[in-house]
Amino acid sequence: MFDTQDINKAQCTLVEGQAVWLFGYGSLIYKVDFEYLERKPAQIEHWARRFWQGSHDHRGTPKAPGRVATLISQPNANCVGMAYKVSSEVFEHLDHREKNGYLRFNTRLNFFDGSVDQGLVYIASENNAAYLGPASEAEIAKHIAIAKGPSGHNDEYLLELANALRELNADDEHVFTIERHLLALS
Ligand code: SIN
Repeated sequence: MFDTQDINKAQCTLVEGQAVWLFGYGSLIYKVDFEYLERKPAQIEHWARRFWQGSHDHRGTPKAPGRVATLISQPNANCVGMAYKVSSEVFEHLDHREKNGYLRFNTRLNFFDGSVDQGLVYIASENNAAYLGPASEAEIAKHIAIAKGPSGHNDEYLLELANALRELNADDEHVFTIERHLLALS
């Protein structure tokens, strides 16, 4: 399995003992299995959330990958999510959790409270081995309806994310359209 842990560890963006903002836009919004010092809703500009990344280790398997969220560069787009201030040591766990294709990138965070800061975000780019790429929302829903992996059913990932985005008042046509197709299948 393609594993990004060593690449992420080799990056010099972390200073030991220093707290860093992490922006979460997928499962990191609703599945918080790490310690944080502070949590605030935020958005990042020029990125759109898409269910275009394959999951071999959480919501699928290498033979039958699930579909999970990544970010696609898109001018004028805004991606709403949750930011967590975490101690740099927490990235050991996060790099492991996000190892199937996600690399850490620097980004500007625009918090809902009007403040701005720099932070990190995990993005699975189109050149990673688990990348699945575009498909229609209807096809993605059919795929998500049957996939499952060590972290559970793929549909749970989508439905929990959609609920979390509603709580953040996020307008995400892609996610809500997949949700509609998914619910129509059941
Ligand atoms: C994220 O949530 O920010 C990254 C993708 C994921 O873990 O679902």
